[in-house]
Amino acid sequence: MDLNIKKNKLPKHVAIIMDGNGRWAQKKGYTRIYGHNKGVKSVQKIVEEALSLDIPYLTLYAFSIDNWNRPKKEIETLMNLLINSLKREFEKLIKNNIRLNTIGNIKTLPKKVQDEIMRVSKKTKKNTKMVLTIALSYGAREEIENVIKNIAMEVKNNTISIENVDHSIINKHLYTQNLPDVDLLIRTSGEQRISNFLLWQIAYAELYFTDVYWPDFGKKDFYKALFNYQKRERRFGKTSGQINF
Ligand code: FPP
Repeated sequence: MDLNIKKNKLPKHVAIIMDGNGRWAQKKGYTRIYGHNKGVKSVQKIVEEALSLDIPYLTLYAFSIDNWNRPKKEIETLMNLLINSLKREFEKLIKNNIRLNTIGNIKTLPKKVQDEIMRVSKKTKKNTKMVLTIALSYGAREEIENVIKNIAMEVKNNTISIENVDHSIINKHLYTQNLPDVDLLIRTSGEQRISNFLLWQIAYAELYFTDVYWPDFGKKDFYKALFNYQKRERRFGKTSGQINF
């Protein structure tokens, strides 16, 4: 397959559901935890590739609100992996002008994870080449619930009138308030569902599903997804004729 990527037709915002660490490991006779460790390597690779393609927004689903139901030991490992990755990659974020951003109910994370996120977010907040967003303790329905509560409160307090509630007001209340809509959503591991990820923000996203497990997902697979995206016609409700005029 010719994987020549057109630089002028790349998605601005790529979001990824990084799935299959556990199954990858179990198939090979390793522990699930080993699979998560390998998953971190894929994160590094994909951040580097996105960076070299000048993709300005990359959002990764690292821990969903439902992942709290996993065994305690696995949750602990994921939290430690996160802290260690942030510590280890910090210099690289600075060097490559990457800003770390998080979405989700961060207050429910262990204090040491919150502290590390705060530290790295603060130190990288002026970086401009890429916004790397990690979704942690994230659930889209919970995000939308909060938006509704906050807007209702503002209506009640007369700081906003009900007629003015529109897409743009809703966007401003989401965790993703500083991010553009998702252009391309990738899910690895063969599952074809959204699993409560960015429900509002993917309204017009192109969806790409691959059977590859996250620990095996590398440059070739990322390029395949981008190449596939570039073949699609994004019409946003218009006709093909209107788009190509
Ligand atoms: C899905 O595999 C993966 C996760 C729930 C965690 C993803 C986390 C990482 C790759 C590591 C930390 C992240 C960063 C950003 C440094 P799964 O366990 O659901 O796999 P399964 O569906 O095969 O069981």
